Amino acid sequence: MSKEKIILTGDRPTGRLHIGHYVGSLRRRVELQDSGEFDKIFIMIADAQALTDNADNPEKVRQNIIEVALDYLSVGLDPAKSNLFIQSQISELTELTFFYNNLVTVQRLQRNPTVKAEMALRGFSGAGVGTDADAAGAGTSGSAASADNKAGIPVGFFCYPISQAADITAFNATVVPVGEDQEPMIEQTREIVRKFNSTYAPVLVEPEILLPDNASCMRLPGTDGKAKMSKSLGNCIYLSDDSDTVREKIRGMFTDPGHLQVSDPGKVEGNTVFTYLDAFCKPEHFEKFASCFVGKKVSFSFASLDEMKAQYRAGGLGDVMCKNFLFAVLEDTLAPIRERRAKFEKDIPYVYEVLRKGTEAARAVASETLAAVKRAMKINYFDPGVLDELIAEQSEKYR
Ligand code: TRP
Repeated sequence: MSKEKIILTGDRPTGRLHIGHYVGSLRRRVELQDSGEFDKIFIMIADAQALTDNADNPEKVRQNIIEVALDYLSVGLDPAKSNLFIQSQISELTELTFFYNNLVTVQRLQRNPTVKAEMALRGFSGAGVGTDADAAGAGTSGSAASADNKAGIPVGFFCYPISQAADITAFNATVVPVGEDQEPMIEQTREIVRKFNSTYAPVLVEPEILLPDNASCMRLPGTDGKAKMSKSLGNCIYLSDDSDTVREKIRGMFTDPGHLQVSDPGKVEGNTVFTYLDAFCKPEHFEKFASCFVGKKVSFSFASLDEMKAQYRAGGLGDVMCKNFLFAVLEDTLAPIRERRAKFEKDIPYVYEVLRKGTEAARAVASETLAAVKRAMKINYFDPGVLDELIAEQSEKYR
């Protein structure tokens, strides 16, 4: 087994990536990439997983592969250091999944909290598998429920945690940097690894999860203050949004509904402006954007986010000023990303070449793992040497 430090992570290409993805995962990936601590880094565009609940819309997935690739490159993922690839083009992953399927029970999948929550979100009814109250009741609460979803849970969707275990183990990943919503997936992967290794032979590597290190990065709320940024709720700020769009979205952002007059004491907890500042603001921003706090009637000078929060709590600091500052802070991160994106958008052949090369390299690794898996399961009948042994063994038996 290799002792290398290897990262694998990825995203479903169902839309452009937003700042929730950025603070929850992309920013960290770039740091890890640039730390030089890792021997190999694999970043996967999980189109096959996206199809598990978009079977009727492959075009949406196809279109978003390039969007996600552009987002990756524009945040600073560097193809010279990180292997960017497309999941569906590595058939070894589906083969691994097929063998792992035998190591997982339906009951275990039904207990996976992420699968349960996602079924509820998509409005899949629990028909057929719904022995569990949460899963069975999911159909009634889903806002995105379509008639198709009501018909039941696609088998592929239900089993995607197993395919995710294949994604992770195929590359011998030791570290999987993801958001907390993916924790049950990693746990399930670890179980599959242990089961495989104890049943057949110790060939699979048990991965560790790496969560975001700052609480407000764990799950950035939407601009409306709702718990999750999601395309269907229309509460996202996208990495590819232009500056005016970002300004508008911040202007309409949820703050403290009780903060009616500027002079009123304001609440920082649950105030989206401050949650975003927690995630994006750096100490140097207070000097860099000091002019945001210079007003016609009142001016402030803050040295830190804590000081700004204290003033907001005490009253006197208005939402408009806070939002202007947040805009400056966000733009500090987003403007360079946007510039790089514009450059890559002008060179689409390069982007596909990155994906093609990355996929080729990833496939070579996955194919070695698959061969090791088949050896461990002794289903490598025609491997060099194995066939001769098999013939000898069976001939002996029938002599
Ligand atoms: N499930 C992840 C998402 O929703 C995407 C994904 C697929 C993934 N396979 C993975 C993440 C393996 C980490 C490791 O975006």
